[in-house]
Amino acid sequence: MTLFEKMRCLLTFGQGVALPLPELSAGTTPTQLFEQWFNDAQKSGILLPEAMSVSSCNADGQPSSRMVLLKSYDEKGFVFFTNYGSRKSQELAENNKVALLFHWNVLQRQIRIEGTVEKVSIEESADYFHSRDRGSQVGAWASKQSQKLKHDDELKERMSHYQKKFAQGEVPHPEFWGGWRIKPHAIEFWQGRSNRLHDRICFEKENEQWIQHKLHP
Ligand SMILES: Cc1cc2nc3c(=O)[nH]c(=O)nc-3n(C[C@H](O)[C@H](O)[C@H](O)COP(=O)(O)O)c2cc1C
Repeated sequence: MTLFEKMRCLLTFGQGVALPLPELSAGTTPTQLFEQWFNDAQKSGILLPEAMSVSSCNADGQPSSRMVLLKSYDEKGFVFFTNYGSRKSQELAENNKVALLFHWNVLQRQIRIEGTVEKVSIEESADYFHSRDRGSQVGAWASKQSQKLKHDDELKERMSHYQKKFAQGEVPHPEFWGGWRIKPHAIEFWQGRSNRLHDRICFEKENEQWIQHKLHP
């Protein structure tokens, strides 16, 4: 976020402000359109525009969703970071089909993404891990994400154990912590319009080409 975007975020209490909507030009790829919309969300002053829901399915087909933060995106996909032992990671490892959802209320926009996941490289995970503040790095060691706490103080005790252990020097990147990349095969951009005549632009990948069509609202 630029200083201007941070100020807008503060002045609007993180709610953002509506901005003029760009027209979709022919030949726009979903990544380009995502970039346009994501930039708009950042500029609008919405708090955490990078927050997205990620849905996984367990082996029985039971879906579950939670919020995570988008850390990067490009033609290859959308990346977030987490604990590889967590519930979401176990489900993604069992079933690589995944769905993402962004909602930017003030802009009346949502983006739905469907695809498959793969782990990012260890180097990419380590680079991002070391870019985080020290407390979050130690916290990643302390948290056995998604596992039951044995007692109320367990997390505090684990945190102070790892604070002592890593008191000196760099906090090592834990093998159990890293990124997932969602490789999209379908992306829908939803723009709210008056009289509920919303605009829905869908991109679907066929033979490595993006095919574009619109849907009734
Ligand atoms: C706005 C927001 C952002 C979050 N970002 C992350 C994230 O980037 N990575 C993560 O592991 N958990 C993140 N969380 C916590 C997750 O929603 C979730 O509680 C946690 O990952 C455990 O989920 P699981 O048990 O389904 O694996 C975030 C929560 C919120 C509300």
